[in-house]
Amino acid sequence: MNTTELIEKLPKAELHLHIEGSFEPELMFEIANRNNVEIPYKSVEEIRKAYNFHNLQSFLDIYYAGASVLIHEKDFYDLTYAYLLKCHEDRVVHTEIFFDPQTHTDRGVAFETVFNGIKKALDDGEKKLGITSQIIMCFLRHLSQEEAFKTLEASLPFKDGIIGVGLDSSEVGHPPSKFQQVFEKAKEYGYITVAHAGEEGPPEYIWEALNLLGVKRIDHGVRSLEDKALMELIIKERIPLTVCPLSNLKLCVVKDLKDHNFKEMLDQGVCVTINSDDPAYFGGYMNQNYTETAEALSLSGEDIVKVAINSFEASFIEDELKEKWINECRSMLT
Ligand code: ADE
Ligand code: ZN
Repeated sequence: MNTTELIEKLPKAELHLHIEGSFEPELMFEIANRNNVEIPYKSVEEIRKAYNFHNLQSFLDIYYAGASVLIHEKDFYDLTYAYLLKCHEDRVVHTEIFFDPQTHTDRGVAFETVFNGIKKALDDGEKKLGITSQIIMCFLRHLSQEEAFKTLEASLPFKDGIIGVGLDSSEVGHPPSKFQQVFEKAKEYGYITVAHAGEEGPPEYIWEALNLLGVKRIDHGVRSLEDKALMELIIKERIPLTVCPLSNLKLCVVKDLKDHNFKEMLDQGVCVTINSDDPAYFGGYMNQNYTETAEALSLSGEDIVKVAINSFEASFIEDELKEKWINECRSMLT
C-alpha cells in the first residue's frame, strides 16, 4: 500500500479543530446572503486571496471577521455538518472540536444558539456518518479572566454536552497563568482542561499550562523541543501534543514543512498527533495534513500508523472504543 492509500484507509481521530476555522468561503457567502450580512469580499476567489498570513494575529483578524456572519442555530448546524462530511471523506472516525463561545456571545448571539446548532449536527453526524465526537469550549485569551468566568457560568446548562475547556486566540502576552482561577473552577465543575501553548509562545507557557491549568493535552506545543526538561516530562508522562503542520506553515511558525520538528519529536517518543486546526484557512483537512507532512518529513508507514494510534490514545473516548480503533490501526501494517 502506498502512503496516500494508507492515510486514506487509516481510521483517525482529530483532536485540534476550531469549528469556526472550518468555515469554507462558499458556505460563508451562502450564510452571509441569507442573513443579509455584508462581507467585504465580492467573490469566493477574493476571500481565498485574502488568506495570506504572516503570523497568528494576521489570521485571527480574518477568522473572527468570517465568523461574524454566523447568527442562527441553523448556521452553526450547517457549518458543523459540512465539517463532518470532510471527516467522513478523510476517514476521521472521531473528532473533538473546539468552539469559541465569546466570538458569538459578544455579538449578541446566545450561547444556547451556538451550542445547539453544533450539538445537533454532531448528533446527526454520529447517526448518519458513524462519527463520534466531543465538544471543547475555548476561552479567548486576549479577553480577561473575568470574561472567561462569565462564559464558564453560561456553559453550565450545557455541561453534559461539553467535555472540557481550552484556551485559544492571541498567545504571546497572554500566558496560561492569566486564567489559573477560571481553569480551577472549570475543573471543579468536572471539565477536562487543555490549552494552546508553545505555538508562538515560549516553553514557559507550556510549563504553565501543565502546572497551573492541569491540562491533559497541549495544543500545538511545537516549541517544547527548546526545553530539555520539558521534553523529558512530556515523554515520560505521555502528554499529547496536538500538532497542526499546515497551520504552522501558513502562520509562518515554520518556513518550510521540511523544517518542521514533528518527526524529531515522534522519534524521541513524544505522543504527537496530526490535526487540521482551521482547515478552511490553512489549505487542507486531515488527510492533506497527513500527506503533506509524510511527504515533507519522509514518514514511514510505521510512523504514520503510530501517529494515528497516538490520536486515539490522546483522545477522550472510552477505553473500549480506543482499543478497537488502535487495533484497527495496527492491522493496517500486516
Ligand atoms: N484560534 C483558531 N485557531 C487558532 C490557533 N491556531 N491558535 C490560537 N487560536 C486559534
Ligand atoms: Zn488551534
